[in-house]
Amino acid sequence: MLPTAPVSEVTVESLTRRFRRDFGSDPRVFRAPGRVNLIGEHTDYNDGFVMPAAIGFDTWVAAGARPDRSLLVHSDQFHEDAELSLDALAGPPRKHWSDFVRGVAAVLEASGQRLSGANLIIEGQVPMGAGLSSSASLEVATAIALLAISGSSVPSVELAKICQRAEHEYVGTRCGIMDQFIAVFGRSGHALKLDCRSLGYETFAIPSGVRLVITNSMVRHDLAAGEYNLRRDDCEAGVNILRQSMPEVSALRDVTVADLEKHRSTLPEVVYRRCRHVITENVRVLSAGDALRSGDLAHFGRLMNESHRSLRDDYEVSCQELDLLVEIASACDGVYGSRMTGGGFGGCTISLVPSDGVERFQDNIKDKYQSATGIIPDIYICSAAQGAGAWEKKV
Ligand code: GLA
Repeated sequence: MLPTAPVSEVTVESLTRRFRRDFGSDPRVFRAPGRVNLIGEHTDYNDGFVMPAAIGFDTWVAAGARPDRSLLVHSDQFHEDAELSLDALAGPPRKHWSDFVRGVAAVLEASGQRLSGANLIIEGQVPMGAGLSSSASLEVATAIALLAISGSSVPSVELAKICQRAEHEYVGTRCGIMDQFIAVFGRSGHALKLDCRSLGYETFAIPSGVRLVITNSMVRHDLAAGEYNLRRDDCEAGVNILRQSMPEVSALRDVTVADLEKHRSTLPEVVYRRCRHVITENVRVLSAGDALRSGDLAHFGRLMNESHRSLRDDYEVSCQELDLLVEIASACDGVYGSRMTGGGFGGCTISLVPSDGVERFQDNIKDKYQSATGIIPDIYICSAAQGAGAWEKKV
């Protein structure tokens, strides 16, 4: 068999060729990865803890400067062009893929950058609507491309915050910082435990002998559809009520399980359950860090399973297909743990599987999921990848 070039080289070559054909010059090429979250779901916008890893699916952007203030953007995924003016970026979400580009450019300019016009070709390889953060990878790849061709840069934490703000204001999802942060800070072979209040983080090597297996339910989720923002509202309602008896509370991060139980009668039932998910999930992320540190994968897996139950029953962001995938995974011999990952309402599960059991795991999941739902799931065996950057040819 002939050796095949890595996906990245093939992608860069084909992007470069097309850019030359369409714009008559050589581009610079940038990439930013998607992510999988091992544990810590819907905690980031509550100032809590998360534990994501970047994955080997990227959004790629080939970019070149233009002498005017236009952005000419081609999206491979949508087979469509968009033309934007850097002088007319403002406006509400248009529910179009170009909102991401418009938003990033607008927030960069609003934060004091003077961007150059640009020709861009975007190739997204992160599955869309699968809870693997294709949006943040597009935002971050676009931001570093626009900055670089304008001869500028911003500190990495700022970069993540700018992309988050672009999603709030130009896409309409009031997301937390997790996805943009890991797209920037991802470290090959490692998961990050991030404190979403201080933005301090700790890296944990993914132990040898286990694989991160992502199973795509093939049920698409759409965070901008409103449920996501509603969960945020529930959390804010909880904080407002709890603050009446605990003025020091500024986010659910500041509330313990004991505090919550003590004040349970002051909270509407749904708000109580939303808060219980967030508060117990924060405790689970901290325990998960300890478990990884001491190599206790069995404990880590149990925490993943508990996280799923809490997301299903208290936070109500799972769906039948995700529950079924978790159920099948949990019944597989040797699997440490499994849970839905990302915003929910469809998308993917993450399972921690011993390396020597991966093949059996895949066969099992495919068989049982397909016979119960008629859907063939995509399964990705992932390694933790490096965060965003410019493509540099290795010699
Ligand atoms: C989406 C958001 C993140 C986070 C997760 C849920 O991916 O973009 O900020 O809130 O959902 O954990």
